[in-house]
Amino acid sequence: MKPYNIAVIAGDGIGPEVINEGINVLNTISTINPDVQFDFTHFPWGCEFYSRHGKMMDEDGIEQLSAFDSIYLGAVGFPGVPDHISLWDLLLIIRKSFDQYVNIRPVTLIKGAHCPLSDVQREEVDMLFIRENSEGEYSGAGDWLFKGKENEVVLQNSVFSRKGTERIIRYAYETAKKQGKTLTSISKANALNYSMVFWDQVFEEVGKEYPEVQTASYLVDAAAMLMIKDPKRFEVVVTSNLFGDILTDLGAALAGGIGLAAGANINPEREYPSMFEPIHGSAPDIAGQGKANPLASIWSASQMLDFFGYEQYGKMVLEAIEQLLVEGTVLTPDMGGTATTSEVGKRVNELLVSIATSKSVNN
Ligand SMILES: NC(=O)c1ccc[n+]([C@@H]2O[C@H](COP(=O)([O-])OP(=O)(O)OC[C@H]3O[C@@H](n4cnc5c(N)ncnc54)[C@H](O)[C@@H]3O)[C@@H](O)[C@H]2O)c1
Repeated sequence: MKPYNIAVIAGDGIGPEVINEGINVLNTISTINPDVQFDFTHFPWGCEFYSRHGKMMDEDGIEQLSAFDSIYLGAVGFPGVPDHISLWDLLLIIRKSFDQYVNIRPVTLIKGAHCPLSDVQREEVDMLFIRENSEGEYSGAGDWLFKGKENEVVLQNSVFSRKGTERIIRYAYETAKKQGKTLTSISKANALNYSMVFWDQVFEEVGKEYPEVQTASYLVDAAAMLMIKDPKRFEVVVTSNLFGDILTDLGAALAGGIGLAAGANINPEREYPSMFEPIHGSAPDIAGQGKANPLASIWSASQMLDFFGYEQYGKMVLEAIEQLLVEGTVLTPDMGGTATTSEVGKRVNELLVSIATSKSVNN
């Protein structure tokens, strides 16, 4: 079989450290099934690149990336480079240029992961957030008038197109239907009297095509409270770019912390490459010390396997992460352990091989 071509943008800080472990896991999958091969091409882009070249990526970076099957991103950000530059000139350009309009963020409390809620069963935290990823509050539209003057005015516009709103909501209905789960829409129509009234209307309209999907609709403030008080209400969730950004961090806190949170930026039509990344940043405070938790990056590698159609291996990777947490002996300091990034990666690979061996013995 032809290998999958993966563009690796390891980025800054702990990015390269955690991505390395994800790559090792994908290579282990290739040893488990030699028909599944990956070819990795590394791009040195990010903030360090910016400090040398005055840009986050090559001028023709998007053209270079367009030839790949997917993009595997570590993290970008470094003290001295304004965050809006690192975000807009790399991450958001990739998401927008490749029409990665679906952001998928699993909020699943796996065995062994710590949940800060005391009276919640593990099975009650199992959500799949589908966040609009191409427009909404992060459209970048706006203006800055009379800068520095007394009458200074800043406009930051949200953009909700019919096409953009319908397609994300339809994707969410399709997912809920396929998984036999409920679908919850999160909006804020009482205060945002154009954008979110429209969002709710489209949610209802598209819902007519999916009578079998049971739905709920919450205001974002109520949803934030309910995610804590009654997380089992949420199964598949669809929401806008900004609300999704915030609520999925809340979700990460519920499901084991930022060291476990992964995200996929998907172009469902597969016209362009999709991008997989841990959601944490470059963590300059611990970079280069071998303390970074690689599990989020490894989880995002499992999302990549799912996307390529190898759900069985995606699942195996999650099982290996779960077994590692249950063992509780090889963990990075953020999870209360003393192991290094590479020791955790190595243990995940060992567990992966043993899971694969036991499955092939049982088959
Ligand atoms: N997707 C991205 O590339 C992305 C996302 C968020 C932030 N950033 C950038 O990263 C830089 C730092 O941002 P921040 O400090 O707000 O967020 P951060 O996620 O980098 O770090 C927040 C805290 O979590 C810890 N942490 C994060 N990931 C960890 C991991 N894998 N293992 C152990 N601990 C981990 C850090 O040590 C830090 O204490 C900024 O420049 C920011 O713009 C990038």
